[in-house]
Amino acid sequence: NVKKDLIGKRLLITAGPTIEPIDPIRYITNPSTGKMGYEIAKAGILRGADVMLISGPTNLAKPYGVKLIRVDTAIQMYNAVMDNISNADIVVCAAAVADYRPEKKEKNKIKKMDEDLCIKLIRNPDILYEIGKEKGKKILVGFAAETENLIENAKSKIIKKNLDLIVANDILQEGAGFNKDTNIVQIIDRNFNVKKYSIMSKAEVAHVILDEIKKII
Ligand code: C5P
Repeated sequence: NVKKDLIGKRLLITAGPTIEPIDPIRYITNPSTGKMGYEIAKAGILRGADVMLISGPTNLAKPYGVKLIRVDTAIQMYNAVMDNISNADIVVCAAAVADYRPEKKEKNKIKKMDEDLCIKLIRNPDILYEIGKEKGKKILVGFAAETENLIENAKSKIIKKNLDLIVANDILQEGAGFNKDTNIVQIIDRNFNVKKYSIMSKAEVAHVILDEIKKII
């Protein structure tokens, strides 16, 4: 009994972590499981949208009906997004993209030395920021996972990344953030109206996000 209120809308979602290789067997990543983004993809399908999901490495199965592109690194995610962005109506960036990557991936396994090891990290592209620069008529939604000054940081991301909505969550709260089935979110719009929700399953949060998107279409 889900309302089919997104028929004909093309929804592009990023999800999961990225991994940034150091050498053939080591990498930098984060504990994102991809659950939030995959739930948005599933909710989009249920509501009739045409859904493309660009996902970093996760253990999750491809949601039924979704076009899935799997990537590893932030650069790969950026390229996959840019190749597919042109006909999207709604873009939701839920991926926990690594902000930095090792400057170079060593060809061989780095050997233990007596000295300490220094790895230079360089900036990755900010995918959401790049989409926001050429937003056009697209509805653009980001996430802000913060451990301090949640609302302030989320509001400044709306401006900086040219977003229509941001989903803010305090990842230190019990029941919120990475590697959980639930989330505690606040959704903020371009006018800085803040809607505060109590703890919900990520599937429920997904529908609430789509409800808010639907209101501004
Ligand atoms: O600036 P910050 O990383 O906190 O912003 C989080 C939002 O930006 C999320 O929606 C995330 O998916 C997106 N992001 C991105 N590419 C990056 C970093 C963040 O798309 N390199």
